Amino acid sequence: MNDRNGDDDDPKGLQRGLTNYGDPDFSIYLRRSFAYSMGYSKEMLERPIVGIVDTASGLNNCHRSVPELVEAVKRGVLAAGGLPLAFPTISLCEPFLSPTSLMFRNLMSMDTEEMIRAQPLDAVVLIGGCDKTVPAQLMGAISADLPAIQLIIGPMLTHKRQGERLGACTDCRRFWAEYRGGRVSRSEIDKIEGGLATTAGTCAVMGTASTMACIAEALGMTLPGTAAIPAVHSDRLRAAEASGRQALVTAGLGLRPSEIVTEASVENALRVLLALGGSTNGVLHLAAIAGRRGIPLSLARLNKLSDETPVLVNLKPSGAHYMEDFFAAGGLGAVLRELKPLLHLDCRSVTGETLGERLAGEAGAWADREIVRALDEPFEPVGGLVALFGSLAPGGAILKRSAADARLFEHEGRAVVFSSLEDLSARIDDPALDVGPDDVLVLQNAGPRSASAMPEAGYLPIPRKLAEAGVRDMLRISDARMSGTAFGTIVLHTTPETAIGGPLGLVRDGDRIRLSVEGRRIDLLVEEAELARRRAEAPPAPSAPKRGYARLYAEHVTQADQGCDFDFLAAEG
Ligand code: FES
Repeated sequence: MNDRNGDDDDPKGLQRGLTNYGDPDFSIYLRRSFAYSMGYSKEMLERPIVGIVDTASGLNNCHRSVPELVEAVKRGVLAAGGLPLAFPTISLCEPFLSPTSLMFRNLMSMDTEEMIRAQPLDAVVLIGGCDKTVPAQLMGAISADLPAIQLIIGPMLTHKRQGERLGACTDCRRFWAEYRGGRVSRSEIDKIEGGLATTAGTCAVMGTASTMACIAEALGMTLPGTAAIPAVHSDRLRAAEASGRQALVTAGLGLRPSEIVTEASVENALRVLLALGGSTNGVLHLAAIAGRRGIPLSLARLNKLSDETPVLVNLKPSGAHYMEDFFAAGGLGAVLRELKPLLHLDCRSVTGETLGERLAGEAGAWADREIVRALDEPFEPVGGLVALFGSLAPGGAILKRSAADARLFEHEGRAVVFSSLEDLSARIDDPALDVGPDDVLVLQNAGPRSASAMPEAGYLPIPRKLAEAGVRDMLRISDARMSGTAFGTIVLHTTPETAIGGPLGLVRDGDRIRLSVEGRRIDLLVEEAELARRRAEAPPAPSAPKRGYARLYAEHVTQADQGCDFDFLAAEG
């Protein structure tokens, strides 16, 4: 933790964290000399400094609006008497990274943490949005522990095509499934491709980006009421200006992330994740965020909270509406007001206000009940996610029951196994594949330590011949992740993963697998003696990467139940 915060005797502004030349007076003289070269006046250089983490990138469409957000944050900082200084970090956009953006989340968190710590900042505003960016920034900010405010980029707007609303990316998947099933033509899908993501901002549904935005607000790391503002709405710029102003207040209060992200606020965030029918990735990221404070995220606790926390929002992929509707319906505040009896109200946000004080100030505020349901008339009676245990997942697995087919919740079927992503893409559409609608599709070797680094491949496509026959859902199991915008009866994050000898790797074609959502179990119905025989025959693990970040990642990434952080970055509990 940074021990340079919160003490009145600490150096401020440009005086902080001097470059070490063995002569502190020379260091500040030299630093000021170079700062003058940027054209700042002496008065400006004596102000407290608010860093602005600029994640604009030509390879991140979701962050297209970051330049104007940076300008709005600067306006707020200047108005409050500070000096705003923007600096870049790595930016991660889900569809532009190979093998998968998750692999680089920890790298972005390290970049964020180290640049916050190394530069002379009194506070920082972190601008993030696309899936992995907000968790990376929160992880980095918590570890650096400087007063910090998360500014969310906000979701895209939807667009109408032939009278039908489209929004990334639940509709991307829906149309792709229809195309695979032969119900949408090639020329149609080519046209649809151009109408799915039409504005700046993050995916337009309650996918991972929106889930993480709401988790950031539920933790208290954003300004209240800002998680769901669309990227192109003028309120988003006002939120940016207000975040810039607030950064100086938060710094003045000496209010650090370690006082905001606590066991209680993490539990509030978990409740919110469940009530939103939020992304399965949210569990993984929240575990990593909490891990930076040494707070374990127990999957057994998730199950208990899930039983007592209903889904309140009617948003895709679990429901019918989009993020812009959620914002107009009252946003996260409307959800928090309903959840109030279940929340820890003494948690503080970046404003210094407690959650209880915030909600008292919002008492009686309007909410659209079509989108945000009342606690006693929920959208679904129980939480959106459950953790499964059993012989196939001794360390746990995750199922998004709110986006799954309830007819498959108690299901036993025959395994059809794909040993890798390459095997999957080579055989899934083979007309000769021996597969039926009641079978269980199994994907191995797609966990955090696999060569593919836990991609969002858990949404295995329905084999083409079944899709063409009208099959829209099957039980699917893997050690991979799934996009927060996807839907289906899909068991993910199976732990321990195949690559470290987990039982998922022992499944063979024809084995029986049983899912019981009620019993919270996923079991491989094969005798232990047979499993021992298969274990003994398992091929040696493939050689690990020899250099660079890939080696660091392979040697230190933790399993999904611990958030896939690096073992050396998590704080001691
Ligand atoms: Fe950036 Fe979905 S691709 S949020």
